[in-house]
Amino acid sequence: MTGSWSPSSWRTRPIAQVPSYPDQAALVAAEARLKGYPPLVSAGEARTLRATLALASQGKAFLLQGGDCAESFAEFQTNKIRDTLRVLLQMAVILTYAGAVPVVKVGRIAGQFAKPRSSDTEVLDGVELPSYRGDIINAMPFEEASRIPDPGRMEQGYWQAASTLNFLRALVSGGWADLHNVHKWNLEFVKESPSGERYRKLAARITESLEFMEACGLTSATVPDLRTTDFYTSHESLLLPYEEAMTRQDSMTGQYVDTSAHMLWIGDRTRQVDGAHVEFLRGVINPLGLKCGPGLSNDDLIRLCDTLNPDNEPGRLTLITRMGHDKVEEHLPRLIRAIKREGRAVLWSCDPMHGNTVKSSNGFKTRPFDRIMREVEAFFAIHRSEGTYAGGVHLELTGQDVTECTGGAIAITEAQLASRYHTHCDPRLNAAQSQELAFLVAEGIRAERHKADLAAAE
Ligand code: PEP
Ligand code: CO
Repeated sequence: MTGSWSPSSWRTRPIAQVPSYPDQAALVAAEARLKGYPPLVSAGEARTLRATLALASQGKAFLLQGGDCAESFAEFQTNKIRDTLRVLLQMAVILTYAGAVPVVKVGRIAGQFAKPRSSDTEVLDGVELPSYRGDIINAMPFEEASRIPDPGRMEQGYWQAASTLNFLRALVSGGWADLHNVHKWNLEFVKESPSGERYRKLAARITESLEFMEACGLTSATVPDLRTTDFYTSHESLLLPYEEAMTRQDSMTGQYVDTSAHMLWIGDRTRQVDGAHVEFLRGVINPLGLKCGPGLSNDDLIRLCDTLNPDNEPGRLTLITRMGHDKVEEHLPRLIRAIKREGRAVLWSCDPMHGNTVKSSNGFKTRPFDRIMREVEAFFAIHRSEGTYAGGVHLELTGQDVTECTGGAIAITEAQLASRYHTHCDPRLNAAQSQELAFLVAEGIRAERHKADLAAAE
């Protein structure tokens, strides 16, 4: 795929999953205003993340990406943002300490609003309405007026993303994320779970090490890295009128950056090689994710690499595989071999959520925790046997005490799903399940490092 690129060249390509706005004049006006608003992230930050992801692709760091399936306007609250960050920091500590590897933290947050849907319409009691597509497009209530795409929602999404990011930046740079607070990140309702107890022990060991370092003169004041941490944002680049309006030309280099988030990904439903979403993202310098489901052919994957990363630069492209626990053995090895054969530099990350969604007997969309674990285990095992790096995970999770995925050490049953099922789209891991998964991932990383050590010793 060649030809000249501009922030609007996607408009000439076939497009999937984007709503048609009935009020075009209002859409154009909202886009014009967004183009004048301040960027949410800078080109320099996007480049730094790219460089860090390049390290992860070489096994020298690990990507932890996670957050809500869909953020919502109604659930825009301090606690929700802080608790999501808290869970991600806890998981990062588990991976860093137990896996002995630096962790790159990327939230599905501060802009994760737009959702691809399997059907354009939804039928309830014989009434057919357009599907809900995420709060940045339309509203969830099953009423005709709610489902009309409203461009004003793009601006509300922007303000919410700006405010969320501002709070996240304050938390990670203002001392709240200081490693000395490692105990305080444990959420009340998780403390009693087996993983909460395991985390408490790990936090105690870290605190001991920090005390030792302090005795040696290494404190948060002398080593500022203990006080702050890096945290990046990401979302699915689905609503292209919004993404185009947030794209700016970097005055230093002339390159284009989508300033709505540090990292953007292309969903499994919008990765058509000649489609609008691929066209838009090929022209911005942000690090990109590409969701790879079982339907992705080897040839299409290589074509997508050619288009999205023509210079084959490490850190540019993360392949987020989401096969399902029962399909991962069949499809992941063939994609890995195709990438190896063609010599492509990619970071491999595992989304064990989207291929493992089922309907419970009482009608809830859920994900059994053991299937999520099985896909993660298979991901590590396959990369070990193919000689490639299992470099990251991509999860839907929340810091809230929800009951959306069944199982885990706290053993949520199908009957319990109804009690705290709050997601605006797909079922998320709660904080206890997230911790538990982090311990499993840490074991995978440790086994991987062991393999690398053995190879180095040979
Ligand atoms: C998502 O990440 O929320 C999503 C819809 O994923 P996928 O494109 O992999 O189905
Ligand atoms: Co989802």
